[in-house]
Amino acid sequence: MSTPRFQLRSSIGKKLLNGLTGVLLLLFIVAHLAGNLTIFVGKDALNGYAAATHSLGALLIVIELGLAGLFLAHAVSAISVWRDNRAARDTRYVVSKSKGAQSKQTLASRTMIVTGLVLLAFLILHLWQFRFGPDHRTALPGHAGDVWDLHRIVVDTFKDPIWTGLYVAVMVLLGFHLRHGFWSAFQSIGALNPKLRPLAFSAGLIFAIVIAVGFLVLPIFVYLAPDPNAGVVGLVKP
Ligand code: HEM
Repeated sequence: MSTPRFQLRSSIGKKLLNGLTGVLLLLFIVAHLAGNLTIFVGKDALNGYAAATHSLGALLIVIELGLAGLFLAHAVSAISVWRDNRAARDTRYVVSKSKGAQSKQTLASRTMIVTGLVLLAFLILHLWQFRFGPDHRTALPGHAGDVWDLHRIVVDTFKDPIWTGLYVAVMVLLGFHLRHGFWSAFQSIGALNPKLRPLAFSAGLIFAIVIAVGFLVLPIFVYLAPDPNAGVVGLVKP
C-alpha cells in the first residue's frame, strides 16, 4: 500500500509531466500556426511548406511519433491529476475554501478537463482529415515532379460552412484551454516565482487570444476568399 507521502510525490510527478509536455506542446502550437499562415501567401506557399516537411522522410516520422507521445502523455497525466483532485475533494482531504488572491480560478481553469477532452477528440478527426487526407497531387514551381496538394484538401474542407463553423468553435475552446494552460504549465514545472506569476497569468491571456485568432482566421479566410489559391492577393484582385 502506498503512503500518503508517496501519493503526494506521484501526484507532483504527474503534474510535472503534465506541465513539461504542456510547455513542449505550446512550442508545437506556435510552429504549427506559423506553417498554417503560409496559406495567406497562396497555394504554392502552403504546398511548398508541406513538401519541405515531408522531404524530412524518416526524421518526420520520428518527430510525429514524438509528438503523438507528447499529446498522449499530456492527456493521460491531465486526466490522472484531475481524478486525484476529485478523489481528494470527495474525501475532504483538502479544505474547499478559496485561496483568495493566490487562487487563479477562472472559467478556463474550471473547464480544462472538458476543453482538453474536446481537443483530443478534435485531434483524431483533424489528423484523419489533413495528415492522412486524400493524396491529391499538383505541380509546384521549382520542384521536379508533382507534390502532395495539401492546399486542395484545406480548401475542399473549409469551403463547407459546417467544417468552418466546427473549426472556429474548436479554436475558441483551444483559446480557453491555453488561457489557463499557458501559465499553469510554467507553474507546474516550477518556472514561476511570485514576481513572475502575475506576468505569466497576463501573458497567458494574450497568448491564448493570438493563437486562437491566428488559427481561426484560416478557415474563415478560405470560406470567404473568392480565390484562395492566390492567398490574400486573391482578395484584392478584381
Ligand atoms: C484552424 C485550425 C487548424 C488548421 C487549419 C490545421 C491544419 C493542419 C494541416 C493542413 C495539417 C497537415 C500538415 C502536414 O501534414 O504537413 C495539420 C496537421 C496537424 N495538426 Fe493542425 N490545424 C489546425 C489546428 C490544430 C490544432 C489546434 C492542433 C492541436 C491541438 C493541431 C494539431 C495538428 C497535428 C498534431 C498535426 C500533424 C502534424 C504532423 O504529423 O506533421 N492542429 N494541421
